[in-house]
Amino acid sequence: MFRNIKVGIILLFGISLNIFGQNQRAVYLDDSKPMNERIEDALSRMTVQEKVAMCHAQSKFSSAGVPRLGIPDLWTTDGPHGIRPEVLWDEWSQAGWTNDSCIAFPALTCLAASWNKDMALLYGKSIGEEARYRNKNVLLGPGVNIYRSPLNGRNFEYMGEDPYLSSKMVVPYIKGVQENGVAACVKHFALNNQETDRNGVNVNVDDRTLYEIYLPAFKAAIQEGDAWSIMGSYNLYKGQHCCHNQYLLKDILRDEWGFKGAVIADWGGVSNTREAIFNGLDIEFGTWTDGLKKGTSNAYENYYLAKPYLDMIGKGEVGTKELDEKVRHILRLAFHTTMNKNKPFGSFGTQEHALAGRQIAEEGIVLLKNTNNVLPIDLKKTKRIAVIGENAIKMMTVGGGSSSLKAKYEISPLDGIKKRVGAQTEVVYARGYVGDPGGSYNGVVTGQDLSDKRSADELLAEACAVAKTADYVIFVGGLNKSDYQDCEGVDRVSLNLPYNQDKLISELTKINKKLVVVNISSNAVAMPWVTKVPAIVQGWYLGTESGNALAAVLMGDVNPSGKLPFSFPVKLEDNAAYTMGEFSGKNHQVSYNEGIFLGYRWHDKQNIKPLFSFGHGLSYTTFEYGKVTADKKEIISSDKITFTVNVKNTGKREGSEIVQLYISDLQSSVPRPVKELKGFDKISLNSGETKTVSFTVDSSALSFFDTGKHAWVAEPGDFEAIIGASSTDIKTKTGFKLK
Ligand code: BGC
Repeated sequence: MFRNIKVGIILLFGISLNIFGQNQRAVYLDDSKPMNERIEDALSRMTVQEKVAMCHAQSKFSSAGVPRLGIPDLWTTDGPHGIRPEVLWDEWSQAGWTNDSCIAFPALTCLAASWNKDMALLYGKSIGEEARYRNKNVLLGPGVNIYRSPLNGRNFEYMGEDPYLSSKMVVPYIKGVQENGVAACVKHFALNNQETDRNGVNVNVDDRTLYEIYLPAFKAAIQEGDAWSIMGSYNLYKGQHCCHNQYLLKDILRDEWGFKGAVIADWGGVSNTREAIFNGLDIEFGTWTDGLKKGTSNAYENYYLAKPYLDMIGKGEVGTKELDEKVRHILRLAFHTTMNKNKPFGSFGTQEHALAGRQIAEEGIVLLKNTNNVLPIDLKKTKRIAVIGENAIKMMTVGGGSSSLKAKYEISPLDGIKKRVGAQTEVVYARGYVGDPGGSYNGVVTGQDLSDKRSADELLAEACAVAKTADYVIFVGGLNKSDYQDCEGVDRVSLNLPYNQDKLISELTKINKKLVVVNISSNAVAMPWVTKVPAIVQGWYLGTESGNALAAVLMGDVNPSGKLPFSFPVKLEDNAAYTMGEFSGKNHQVSYNEGIFLGYRWHDKQNIKPLFSFGHGLSYTTFEYGKVTADKKEIISSDKITFTVNVKNTGKREGSEIVQLYISDLQSSVPRPVKELKGFDKISLNSGETKTVSFTVDSSALSFFDTGKHAWVAEPGDFEAIIGASSTDIKTKTGFKLK
C-alpha cells in the first residue's frame, strides 16, 4: 500500500513535471527574464552550424535566424533618409513591389542644420515607424562621419564638421528609431571621410585627432543613444580593414565604450576570415559573393564568415568562444527587434511623416545672405517670378548611391513655388543649363524626361530673356546626386558648381537685381558671384516635401532658422585637408595632416575668412544678445559652471535663433583650437520677446585628449566662454579659471 502511494506520488510528480516542462516557455522566449539569461538559454540550444549561419548574410539585406527555434531572420534596410525599396533576394535591382514607396526625409546635413534635437527625435521616430511597418529590423543609418572636405561625395549622409553638434544630433535620432523596435546602425565606423579608394585607403591619423574629432559622435551614439548596432567602414586604419579592426572594434568600441550590440560589416567590407573572427565583427554582409568581387549567384555560403569559418572550426584551427560572443551580440539585437513583443506596428508613407519631413526641411534651410531684405518675396508686389535652373525641376530622391529612394511623391521647387504663389503671380521657368538628364538607380526611375537638345547658348539666352521680364528671379541650382557630385562611391573633383552654372548666375546678376540663388547641395560650393547676388539660400536635399518647404521659406510663411553645420571656404585652398597636403591620398594612404584643425578650427587658427562660417544662418527678424554671465569665476575639475545670456527678438516678426557656446582654452601645454563648440540652444522668440539661455558645462567641455595618458584632461588655467550667433559672429564672452 505504502509502496503504491510512493509510486503514485512519483508518477504524479513525474507527470506534473512533464506538464510543467511542456507548458514552461523556454527562457529565451520569456521576455520577463533578464536579457543575459535569455541570450545564454538561446545560445545553449543552438548548433555550431546555426550559429555560423547567423554571422553572415543570406540575401542582399537579410541574415538568417534560427528557424528551428523560432528566431526570425534579421532584415536590414538603407537608410538613412528613408526606407529603401525592396531589392531582389540576390540582386541589387529593385524587386518591383508596388507598395514600397516611402516618405523621403531631408538629407542628414539638413537635419544637422536645424540644430534642433527635437527635429532629430522626430526624424528618428518617423523613419523608425516607416522601417517598422516595412518589417525592417535594422535601419542602416544614421551616418556621423565628420565633414573633412567639401569634396567628399558622401557628406550628404552625415552631420557636418563638428563632433559636438553631430554627437548631440545623433542621439535623439537613434532613440526615435529604436522606440519602434528597430535598431539604428550607426555608420561608417570609422574614418570613412572620402569615397575615393574607399575600400583600399589606409587612414593615418594621430590618436588625439581620432578621439577629439572622428570618434565623439560614434561614442555618443553608443553610450548616450544606446544604438543596438554599428556598421564598420570600408577603409583601413593601422593597416586593417575597419570591418575587422582590432583597434577600433575591440580596443575602443568594446573595451573602452562597453558596446554590447552587433557590429555589422559594410557591404563587402570583409576580406579576411581570421581577422573577422577575432577582431570584433558580428555579421558579414556583402555586395557580391565574397565581399567586393562579383561571383555566382546565391553564394552566401562562400562569405568569409560562412563556410570558411565553419571549416576552420571543424579543423580545430579556431575554437567557438568568439562565435558564441558574436551570437550573443546578434541575439541581443534580435531580442530588441525581431523578438521584441512590445514593439509597435509602425506606419508607412503617411501624411504625418511627410509633414515631419517638411518641418525638418523648413528648420534646416539656411538663409546665407539677404541684402536689403530681398527675401521674403512679397507676393502682393510681385506679378511675375522667373524660376531658373535644373534643380528646380529635377527629382533628387533617386540617385546618390545606397541612400537612393523610391519616394511616394516629391514636390519639386518649381511645383512648390507655383502652388504657393497661386494664380495672381505668374511663374515662368527656364532650364538655363543641362546637368544630369538621367534619373534612375537600381531600376527605380524618376519617370522624368530631362533630355534637352538645345545648346548651352540657347539655354542661357532663354534664361536671360525670362529673367528680364520678371520681378524676381529664383535660380535653383547646385549639385545633384550623380557621380562626382553628392554621390556615394566617388568624390567631387572641384569646389565649383558644375555645368557652367557660375557663368549663368553671373549673367543673371546683370539682368535682374532681385536675384535669389538657391543652392541645392550637401557640400560647400564656391560662389565667385557672391557679392553680386543679394539673396542666397542653402537648400539641401529636402525629400518628399522639398518644394513646399522651400516655397514656404522664400515667401516668408516660415522664417528661416537653420545654420550651417560646416564651413563654406572661399576656395579649396582654404580647406585644411586640401591645403595640408591631401584630401584623398595616394597609393592607398591618406594622412590627416591637419590633425584636429579642420573646418572652423582651421579657419580660426589660420585667420582665414570663410565664405560662410560654421554656425552661420540669417533670419527675417533680428536678434540682440545681452552680456553673458558666469555663475562662478573659478572652478575645480569636479565643478559645473553655468553661463547665461539674454537674447531678444528685435525685429517685427517671430523667429528662432540658435545660440552657440564656444569654449576657448587660453593657456595650454598643447596646441588647442581657438575655440570649440560646447553648447547650443535653439530658441523661438516672438517680436520683442526676450529669453534667457543657459549652458551648464563640466570639465569635459574644457578637456583635450592627452595621448600620453590616453585620457581626457582639463588643464588648470584661464578659459573663455564665447557666445556667438555663428563661429565668427561673436556676441559676448566671459573669462573663468580652472584651478
Ligand atoms: C554603403 C552602406 C550601405 C550598404 C547597403 C554600402 O555600399 O556604404 O552605407 O548601408 O551599402 O546598401
